[in-house]
Amino acid sequence: MVVFLPLATRVIAGVTVPNTALINSSIELARQNLPSHGFGHVMRSWLNGQALVNRLPQPERAKFDEEAFGVSAILHDMGWAFNTSFVSNDKIFEVDGANAARDLIRKKGGRGWDQHRIQLVWDAIALHTSRDIAPYKQREVAYLSMGIYLELVGVEIAKQRYGELITVPEAEWDRIAAEFPRPGMKGYFSGVMIGLCVLKPEMTYANFVGDWGEKYVQGYTRVGHRVIDLLEAVLPE
Ligand SMILES: *[C@@H]1O[C@H](CO)[C@@H](O)[C@H](O)[C@H]1NC(C)=O
Ligand SMILES: *[C@@H]1O[C@H](CO)[C@@H](O)[C@H](O)[C@H]1NC(C)=O
Repeated sequence: MVVFLPLATRVIAGVTVPNTALINSSIELARQNLPSHGFGHVMRSWLNGQALVNRLPQPERAKFDEEAFGVSAILHDMGWAFNTSFVSNDKIFEVDGANAARDLIRKKGGRGWDQHRIQLVWDAIALHTSRDIAPYKQREVAYLSMGIYLELVGVEIAKQRYGELITVPEAEWDRIAAEFPRPGMKGYFSGVMIGLCVLKPEMTYANFVGDWGEKYVQGYTRVGHRVIDLLEAVLPE
């Protein structure tokens, strides 16, 4: 098992985070290509996730790839970018984000980034909404999914799902939210989901994104696109 040397750190919104050139490049890419609500969401996700990691006991903490985690967290929603070069027509937004992160690492990551670490980032982003799978993958994958959930729903509801794994106190969550404010998130989130349902409906039917299509997009329907529709049509009696 690889053990990571402690990275240089800095403090953002009271949370001690790794301070590396690639994390800075990730922050710049997210800042330039997401509106402020999207940028705030990925930063809060990173900070809440890192705040959980900061409380991991040794030796788990030393085995945790905090730089890979940071890059994953900061770039996990590049599939929501307004720069359409990040947004495919034929892949779910999670995969668009994973590909954007992989491309940035290949360009700027340098020698420390072997195939395994790149794949770890790719998996963490691709699986961040797969809450029935992520907890059983590598810890970086599990903590990304959990950190994003914690940022979105808050400490109390996150505890209902993840129990004692949620070690971040309310005051720390609040401080992060004060630095990257949340008002307007509901409308922003809805707008992104509806936009995806209109742009690439085929990529939303099997995904929670399609729930916004069914609720808000006229003419949108999953009927005919579901696994049940296919298998009932093709399987022998
Ligand atoms: C990352 O950016 C911060 C804030 O601009 C800066 O203080 C820090 O020196 C940068 N870190 C690296 C490794 O370049
Ligand atoms: C969109 O992103 C691509 C890839 O990073 C970049 O080359 C291009 O300049 C960006 N376009 C805008 C309008 O920012």
